[in-house]
Amino acid sequence: MSTAVTESPTAAPAAPAASSPAATRGHVEITDVRKTFGATEVLKGVSLTVPPGGVAVIVGPSGSGKSTLLRTINHLEKVDGGYITIDGELVGYRLRHNKLHELREKDILKQRTDIGMVFQNFNLFPHLTALENVIEAPIVAQGRPKEEARKRALELLDRVGLKDRASAYPRQLSGGQQQRVAIARALALNPKILLFDEPTSALDPELVNEVLDVIRELATSGTTLIIVTHEMGFARDVADTVVFMDEGQIIEQGGPQNIFTNPREPRTRSFFSKVIEPAFNI
Ligand SMILES: Nc1ncnc2c1ncn2[C@@H]1O[C@H](COP(=O)(O)OP(=O)(O)O)[C@@H](O)[C@H]1O
Ligand SMILES: [Mg+2]
Repeated sequence: MSTAVTESPTAAPAAPAASSPAATRGHVEITDVRKTFGATEVLKGVSLTVPPGGVAVIVGPSGSGKSTLLRTINHLEKVDGGYITIDGELVGYRLRHNKLHELREKDILKQRTDIGMVFQNFNLFPHLTALENVIEAPIVAQGRPKEEARKRALELLDRVGLKDRASAYPRQLSGGQQQRVAIARALALNPKILLFDEPTSALDPELVNEVLDVIRELATSGTTLIIVTHEMGFARDVADTVVFMDEGQIIEQGGPQNIFTNPREPRTRSFFSKVIEPAFNI
């Protein structure tokens, strides 16, 4: 990373919080979200704002609730308290007589088309080619004409560097290529936000960068991104906000320059001291 971020009286004004000044959609507001599994409260009142086009990177120890939080954002998990809005619209619920009522399945699915998600294990359909994986949701969920969906899918596969592998099946692709197809598939619905849950954790080390490079490009494109990762160098490069979670709570959040060099909370400091290699320079 460049060192041009040091503050000086002549420095240019700070960049706006959102990555892309043109971004107008994908404002995520998470308010006091709680989630309990059995007797265990795994989200203990989480609040987080991500502005349109913003890039929030969530880090924290295993079991701290990162995946559960992501899954509440597209209502793969119901919340037990609090609420989430995207561009002012409640996720998974509607408000009636001052009470939240869960949406019908059909409306949940429709709402979910605004929220792309990329999983650790790619989750591609094994019996469909790369192209077929990307056109499936636009055709089935959005009723797009096949030819239009195909054209757009080829553009997206090109964007992730895989236009020439459009007719390959997942088993014929490396993990990095499969994950790039999964990203193209998530983009195909033109989502307001994209959620990434440890997108490189299942990859061999030499394949990590090709996936991170695609996400880096997205980070400047104006789509709101919320990314759970253990790749601290990547977090430092792309995040507007780094969020540290532990035991179901956000312990601390801030710009990468601040939080990595000068964490306030002992728990944040202790976590970074374990996961950041000594050669990691801010
Ligand atoms: N479906 C589930 N049923 C019961 N417990 C769960 C379920 N999903 C997650 N948990 C528990 O919730 C806690 C947080 O999990 P998770 O959100 O996956 O954490 P992280 O992604 O930070 O590793 C863990 O203790 C986990 O065992
Ligand atoms: Mg997880």
